[in-house]
Amino acid sequence: MRITVLTLFPNWFDGPFGESMIQRGRDNGALEIELVNFRDFATDRHRTVDDAPYGGGGGMVLKAPPLAAALDATAGAPGSEGRAHVIYTSPAGAPFTQRRAEELAKLPRVAIICGHYEGLDQRLIDSRVDEEISIGDYVLTGGEIAAMAIVDAVARLLPGVLGNEAGARDDSIATGLLEAPQYTRPEVFEGRPVPDILLSGHHAKVAAWRARQSEQLTRQRRPDLWQAHQDAKFRK
Ligand code: ADE
Repeated sequence: MRITVLTLFPNWFDGPFGESMIQRGRDNGALEIELVNFRDFATDRHRTVDDAPYGGGGGMVLKAPPLAAALDATAGAPGSEGRAHVIYTSPAGAPFTQRRAEELAKLPRVAIICGHYEGLDQRLIDSRVDEEISIGDYVLTGGEIAAMAIVDAVARLLPGVLGNEAGARDDSIATGLLEAPQYTRPEVFEGRPVPDILLSGHHAKVAAWRARQSEQLTRQRRPDLWQAHQDAKFRK
């Protein structure tokens, strides 16, 4: 999979994309990440990427032409063959979910535009953006952290990134429920023992305990997920 990230701050990505799982995916060819500074596509002397909004109001708006040129050069022009699926990160987008990550992980080419300032000229969205995604109901200073979250959630689903693919599938949320608590050595920590059942060696009982914990936790903390899980069960 090839992901192109269009940003004014490509250096922000060095840390998260240069270590651990994501780097492994890049090293073994499961994932290619291309960082594009769309300021390089501004044509004026000052390399301007933003301007005051028509109609007044505060803040600055990202101009359409530099982004259009950057997208057409790196993601493909609208209508061209093999063009990337273009995502724009914004608080006004559809909420990002595990299901959406799974769908995106099947695509060969994705481009992500990181927004900034008061937003992006609507005509660029209308002409070039396939999907607007929000990572939650809060406002970040820009779309970079949202792009990182999307790339991370998608990358770990690609074969060759995690190493342990069963892990990705069984994870919390991927199954529709929160994950049961986990324990490792020592057997007693500050007087707190590991639940007996986990030391029993009885695989079926351990699995039943985890399923029960998982259901209880989801019911208590995420009634929305629990309801969706019940509805899905009822439909089956
Ligand atoms: N840009 C600013 N806030 C954002 C959010 N919550 N999700 C995606 N992009 C954003």
